[in-house]
Amino acid sequence: MATIPNIPAGRLPQLLARMPKAELHIHIEGSLEPELIFEMSRRNGVAIPYASVDELRRAYAFTNLQSFLDIYYAGASVLLKEQDFYDMAMAYLKRAQADNVVHAELFFDPQTHTARGVAMETVINGLHRATVDGAKQLGVDASLILCFLRHLSEQDAFETLEQALPWRDKFIGVGLDSSEVGHPPEKFAKVYARCRELGLHLVAHAGEEGPPAYVWTALDLLKVERIDHGVQSTKDPELVKRLARDRIPLTVCPLSNLKLCVFPKLEMHNIPQLLEAGLVATVNSDDPAYFGGYMNENFVQTFAATGMGAREAYQLAKNSFDASFVDAAAKRRYTDRLDEAFANA
Ligand code: ADE
Ligand code: ZN
Repeated sequence: MATIPNIPAGRLPQLLARMPKAELHIHIEGSLEPELIFEMSRRNGVAIPYASVDELRRAYAFTNLQSFLDIYYAGASVLLKEQDFYDMAMAYLKRAQADNVVHAELFFDPQTHTARGVAMETVINGLHRATVDGAKQLGVDASLILCFLRHLSEQDAFETLEQALPWRDKFIGVGLDSSEVGHPPEKFAKVYARCRELGLHLVAHAGEEGPPAYVWTALDLLKVERIDHGVQSTKDPELVKRLARDRIPLTVCPLSNLKLCVFPKLEMHNIPQLLEAGLVATVNSDDPAYFGGYMNENFVQTFAATGMGAREAYQLAKNSFDASFVDAAAKRRYTDRLDEAFANA
């Protein structure tokens, strides 16, 4: 581990911005900025019920997860062609590069698109081509994680998996997202067992708004390797012990939690407590176009609000590499770059 330099509070934002990091919780459809929504709406002839970019942005005032999801699915309705998926992902990868994100694992929601008649091939090929060009042109390594929508049935998830399997080499794992409360992980136990047999990585949103019980069943029944969000876990001390003992990473999204009213103020976010308990917590942006910030904005605002310092910055960036699905050699290379950034801070 690097020696952590003493950094005055005024210089912390620069260190947070400059340090290399991985992003492990980003819904690529949640990176679609209003300007791009309007451009695609025009070029594809898909009407959206907002008169202007400003009017759409003004609608981004959320009270909970569902109030956000309704607008998020409406925004995604402009995506039709392979080029749309490519453009969306390339725009994200450029923002990632600007924030010194060196590795990203991108969630995508195929059912949002296939339900509108867009072919699975169109979605996966557009996103995958962007990850290839992003690595070549921007130096950002990225891979794809297919998410099942939990408000739909397990049967629908099975059909989605079948449709995606011809492109099995273009995604590394599966996740579970959308409306959490009322749709517990166990609803998807069989499809996750199949994904495990296929050698896919497994993650699931749990404990964003839902109770600690959902985190337990994501671990014990779905056998996930990471928990997305998981911030409700601190309500159950036994669960915190389990997450620490098994080094199960939590992909935490502070600005998302603030915008969806999971915490009333960023000052009250429990990420310092998660780190203090020895959990492998990471910082991520979730749906940056909707929640007011990409990676560095999440880091800078969260550190300013909670009073965390250089030690926690190092830990969070190190955790992001440890928690990623790259091999041990790549983790070592990323961590060496992180150590170098701290040595030169
Ligand atoms: N889909 C996109 N963002 C999400 C979130 N924060 N929780 C659940 N599903 C999502
Ligand atoms: Zn999410």
